[in-house]
Amino acid sequence: MKKCFSLTCLMLVLGVLLLPAPGRCCWWWGPNDLVPDDSCSGGEKRILITYDSRHNATSLIAQSIYNRLCENASVDLKYVNNLDPDDIETYDAIIIGSPIYISSWLPDVNRLLQLHHDKIARVPSSAYFITCTFLKDSNDTPQRRQDAYDYYIKKVVEQYPDIKPIDTGVLSGEFLYSELYFLEWFLMKISGFQEGDFRNEAKIEAWADGFWEKIQ
Ligand SMILES: Cc1cc2nc3c(=O)[nH]c(=O)nc-3n(C[C@H](O)[C@H](O)[C@H](O)COP(=O)(O)O)c2cc1C
Repeated sequence: MKKCFSLTCLMLVLGVLLLPAPGRCCWWWGPNDLVPDDSCSGGEKRILITYDSRHNATSLIAQSIYNRLCENASVDLKYVNNLDPDDIETYDAIIIGSPIYISSWLPDVNRLLQLHHDKIARVPSSAYFITCTFLKDSNDTPQRRQDAYDYYIKKVVEQYPDIKPIDTGVLSGEFLYSELYFLEWFLMKISGFQEGDFRNEAKIEAWADGFWEKIQ
């Protein structure tokens, strides 16, 4: 009886933690409303953009990079869990993106790197990008960019030394309290994070252009 009561309490607590904050988020702990995978044939070079995203900002940023690169190349945009790892080595270049959650990349991108870093390393050109709110237009200085790299990208680059990214992008993301799960909402509130859409289309396109120039 006591065990049954404890179990019911535990289920209730978990249920509340996984509920979305009042708003329009989905009803389970997973990504919501990501852009659909896409492909374009814009040139000879074949590029794969694969990413993870929980609340869609990284998905939209990956789509902007995709749209820009489609002007010159043939590009596949794929949510990381839709990627067939056996396809990785068929590309001339790969871009891997993740949002930052509590200083870390999302688990499914980490899993891709952990399980398939050897395949990724054999692709002629690779790049990483992250989305975060540490860097915004209001504080975008070279020092802050370097700090973002040191906090969020350096450890991944060091963890997979066989992958030699030709570029790494720190792109400002977005989050709204109304879209968060209760646990996220709570964490962000107590940390005093400022909500907002900090994406900057011009900077995203400039990063995509820079990547394109580097793979020529
Ligand atoms: C629970 C939570 C933790 C976060 N932690 C960080 C963090 O440690 N550093 C940071 O710069 N941004 C952090 N962010 C901001 C996200 O990285 C940013 O909003 C990102 O664009 C979200 O991408 P997504 O919508 O694709 O999931 C956090 C956001 C949430 C909701």
